[in-house]
Amino acid sequence: MNGYAGILPARSGGRHDACVPAHPLRLLSIYYSPFTIHELMKVLMIGDVVGKPGRTALLDRLQDLKEQHAIDFAVMNAENVAGGFSITPAIAEHLFSSGIDVMTSGNHIFDKHEVVEYIKKQPRLLRPANYPPHTPGNGMWTGEVKGVRIAVISLLGRVFMQPADDPFRIANELITSLSNEVKIRLVDIHAEATSEKIAMGWFLDGRVSAVLGTHTHVQTADERILHQGTAYLTDLGMTGSYGGVIGMKKGDIINRFTSPIHRKPDHSKSEARICGAVIEVDEATGHARAIERINLSHEP
Ligand code: FE2
Repeated sequence: MNGYAGILPARSGGRHDACVPAHPLRLLSIYYSPFTIHELMKVLMIGDVVGKPGRTALLDRLQDLKEQHAIDFAVMNAENVAGGFSITPAIAEHLFSSGIDVMTSGNHIFDKHEVVEYIKKQPRLLRPANYPPHTPGNGMWTGEVKGVRIAVISLLGRVFMQPADDPFRIANELITSLSNEVKIRLVDIHAEATSEKIAMGWFLDGRVSAVLGTHTHVQTADERILHQGTAYLTDLGMTGSYGGVIGMKKGDIINRFTSPIHRKPDHSKSEARICGAVIEVDEATGHARAIERINLSHEP
């Protein structure tokens, strides 16, 4: 089943990148095999969107990206989107109405208290699935796009992170609970350790369409299709300001390393980049056919 799997080169650079023409077959969103023609689902996964610079960059380019890559379904990690910590209902609704379909999150999702009530009513905003069972909200969303069933799962790593339940066991339980009709399965593993994320990729290989890492805010260059057909990338990277330290003001973060007296850091406001990946998934099998990193500078 891997005969058609491939790793496409990352694109980086300025705004002109948005004009790079796609291969004709990719524009048609189909691929050919000797026996069948399968439809492809094109998924955009955006890494941690940090503060207003990240939101502004994403909102400015989202429609371009969706059109350029013929995106059917867009997911972003939203745990840092409001000033670097959590999200507000108003920001979430704005992003949903602007073309984001589902938001995953991580350790900062409940930093703003209004999320506690909002997440109960908004199933498209996920909290980590391996939080305690009675935590408000859900860690998995299921729905349908183009008549194809989709699941999105948000997981939190445990290495160098605050305590959480076993993400491997919870992932296994959630995937086992899914009907075979749910072909497209996307997993965000929000974790610090590369080893934990790679292990999750292999653990879920062949059972989900993609395992994409978030949380470190630094994009890795290890995108690939694993042996059984799962697209994998250790970290999607940050969508936000690159003039600071992982999206926060450099002075605030340097101070945290050099002094025992520090305050909550503010988000950086300088040059922004948009980071993520585009994944092509065979709608008939749920297996990934390609993964392409997105890493674009943003010129307001
Ligand atoms: Fe995080």
